[in-house]
Amino acid sequence: MHEHQQPVRNLTVAQAARIKHILTHYITNNTSVNENNRTINSLVAPALRLAFHDCVGVKCDGCINLNNAGNAGLETVINRLDELYAQHNLSTVISRADFWVLASIAGVEVAARKSKLCSPAPCTQPNIQFRWGRKDCATAPATNDTHQFPDAHGDLNHVLTFFGDSFNMTTRDVVACLGAHTLGKAKRSNSGFEGLWVPQEDEFDNHYYTAMVNLAFSQRNVDLPGTNSTGHWQWNNPNRDFMMFNADMCLLRNITPEANGQVLSCAANANACGRASTADIVEEYAMSNERWVRDFEKCFQKMISHGYENGTADELKELVADDSENTTPSTTTKSSTSSGSLISEMCYKCLCFLFFIAYCLVPHH
Ligand code: HEM
Repeated sequence: MHEHQQPVRNLTVAQAARIKHILTHYITNNTSVNENNRTINSLVAPALRLAFHDCVGVKCDGCINLNNAGNAGLETVINRLDELYAQHNLSTVISRADFWVLASIAGVEVAARKSKLCSPAPCTQPNIQFRWGRKDCATAPATNDTHQFPDAHGDLNHVLTFFGDSFNMTTRDVVACLGAHTLGKAKRSNSGFEGLWVPQEDEFDNHYYTAMVNLAFSQRNVDLPGTNSTGHWQWNNPNRDFMMFNADMCLLRNITPEANGQVLSCAANANACGRASTADIVEEYAMSNERWVRDFEKCFQKMISHGYENGTADELKELVADDSENTTPSTTTKSSTSSGSLISEMCYKCLCFLFFIAYCLVPHH
């Protein structure tokens, strides 16, 4: 596949910090009021979903096929990020694929700072390292390439196989990465499913796991009467405030969906289906936000490095510390001090040596 002309220069610490600052500011100020009358940061969840979908396939490449049903609903975040990319003239500095990854990281950080778990006590903040060098496809941000996404009706075997094959994830990685569903919601107009996973859809914490463990879920069909839908089965709590897909519930419960997604054995009460082999990990994350956040960092890193793994020709690069164009005082001071002291130390040794030679050459009586 052809690739866009890629930004040629190194990406420096200062440049990445400036771009992340732009993104954080934009995401923080991009709010809307949800159906529960809460003001939410509405780009956080779509930006995270975008990074995931961009990295499915051969590699993260800044290209999404909006005709692919699995990508429905991503157009708004793509357009918003593209406006920002153009407005700040970033195409010569950072690829779109890197920009989207940085947007997802900025969004997760905004959402983690909002978590109720962080108030009043400080709480675990994710630390997702950003490395750069992802290459955009020739037609970025659009493409006709079609990728297969995981099936929301799928069972544990389907979910583990998809993420193992796509991103080389371990079982623990998969359970940790599905916790991304603590953000955002499903919309009938996009996926045919409907609802929130947790009460606070823009707060990044382990609520997804506590909801799964603590609420009583039963399965129901959510297709509207008269629609020509293929059938959407999801799990809801009795008040129907929150939901889970089979692909979520299978992490805790041993469910065996029919081909259409329906689970016959425990539809009225998911707990009747017994424990899944991954249930211990779900419970561990439900007990400890810290454990989950640390594991999420790892699984997400695998996802956003896809196609650029260490040791491959295209492996991602560290940000460059020396920034000749956007020098920050701290980097200048640090590098000039250390190189300056090295030079003076060398001069001092040279001088000592010259004095020694001179002393030897001068006749002594
Ligand atoms: C078995 C795996 C997965 C399945 C079947 C799945 C499926 C879905 C579906 C159907 C939606 C609803 C889209 C809509 O109606 O707008 C959704 C939303 C979302 N997904 Fe996943 N997903 C999976 C894994 C992941 C992973 C690994 C991530 C990120 C690391 C992720 C991030 C999100 C986010 C943040 C949303 C909310 C988007 C929004 O509110 O706009 N998902 N997912």
